[in-house]
Amino acid sequence: DGDVFKYYADGEWKKSNSGKSVPIVNPTTRRTHYKVQACSQEEVNKVMEAAKAAQKLWAKTPLWKRAELLHKAAAILKEHKAPIAECLVKEIAKPAKDAVTEVIRSGDLVSYCAEEGVRILGEGKFLVSDSFPGNERTKYCLTSKIPLGVVLAIPPFNYPVNLAVSKIAPALIAGNSLVLKPPTQGAVAALHMVHCFHLAGFPKGLISCVTGKGSEIGDFLTMHPAVNCISFTGGDTGISISKKAGMIPLQMELGGKDACIVLEDADLDLVAANIIKGGFSYSGQRCTAVKVVLVMESVADSLVEKVKAKVVKLTVGPPEESCDITPVVSESSANFIEGLVMDAKQKGATFCQEYRREGNLIWPLLLDNVRPDMRIAWEEPFGPVLPVIRIGSVEEGIHHCNASNFGLQGCVFTKDINKAMLISDAMETGTVQINSAPARGPDHFPFQGFKDSGIGSQGVTNSINMMTKVKSTVINLP
Ligand code: G3H
Repeated sequence: DGDVFKYYADGEWKKSNSGKSVPIVNPTTRRTHYKVQACSQEEVNKVMEAAKAAQKLWAKTPLWKRAELLHKAAAILKEHKAPIAECLVKEIAKPAKDAVTEVIRSGDLVSYCAEEGVRILGEGKFLVSDSFPGNERTKYCLTSKIPLGVVLAIPPFNYPVNLAVSKIAPALIAGNSLVLKPPTQGAVAALHMVHCFHLAGFPKGLISCVTGKGSEIGDFLTMHPAVNCISFTGGDTGISISKKAGMIPLQMELGGKDACIVLEDADLDLVAANIIKGGFSYSGQRCTAVKVVLVMESVADSLVEKVKAKVVKLTVGPPEESCDITPVVSESSANFIEGLVMDAKQKGATFCQEYRREGNLIWPLLLDNVRPDMRIAWEEPFGPVLPVIRIGSVEEGIHHCNASNFGLQGCVFTKDINKAMLISDAMETGTVQINSAPARGPDHFPFQGFKDSGIGSQGVTNSINMMTKVKSTVINLP
């Protein structure tokens, strides 16, 4: 049946023998828009076998040739930005303009990875023994970075293309093979992206993309003995994956409750602009979104007024029109967000706008005077709802940030760089942005979550290194 998108294995597009498919619901229309194959465990086994075999040859392929193919894939990806972006609009309701940006950013990431790979993998170390006590200069150690084997990549719905290539490209340049399990919402965009790698001419079996139900193949993939590394971005599932996975390197980027600490001397116009961008772009469905504002009481009224004035200007509507606020990814997500809003209402938060929802579309909402007993003070809405907590001291802000079980990013706004540095040191998050909203990019910067926000550091360079192991050869002189 031509309606169901095929999965990709052994260099070919295939139908699943399961005869089953998985529907992808358009968040805007709330109707099934696409269908993908529901792959079986047996098909996963075949993919793994092919990935293992292809990797052996790929590891022997010269680094410059691997880079050349990645550059080719990057160019093809950029050429096909329109149809891929179209899928993102329909599957995850990403505003059309942002959808195109995601694809372009992905092409750039793949190229950057190829360039970075040829440099950092092109050199190893040479050590001599006599620096360690008791040794003569009789041992020479040569090290190089070699691939891990099969890398399993599991990206989330919010960046099905970009957070897939941020795993695929480092894996491939480092000589690994790659099995991709895209999120259900975003699977068709991911399949289109994989097609660009197919067109670039990578060897058969080196890249595979299996689609299906998490309940059927999720654990089977993450616990598969052929998998030598898992790179996952998403929610709580990551924690259970890390408990079940074998003794293999893991790269996990999970949730966040990124705090924005605003000091009395901050440039409030700059803060307001960053709160809007940081809190509401892609309707707050970013792990790095500003998720709680901690503002000094003395400037809180003024800041809230400025943010309110900007919230009114946000356009709300369909992703096709590139509206600022678009429907959230699913009905269950919208219900969850609504639950947080109702809890805050019941406990006395100040609503800066009226709460409004139609289907999965939730109007942007700023909640002032949020207190620590409200769920929204701690939980991640992943929607266009932003709590403001008024603080009496900077220490209070740092304390709230550090009391969270998340530790992805945070930001601090002040004109005093000394204070900013001290606050950055005190915040238990993987990254602290001074005078800007949190963000993962530029994509070669390190990116890591502390605590329940993840394990391992991403960013192009760190990902390439993480997807290799060190091999040493020691020459022993007589
Ligand atoms: O949702 C998680 C992403 O890694 C955030 O990326 O900061 O570029 O939106 P971003």
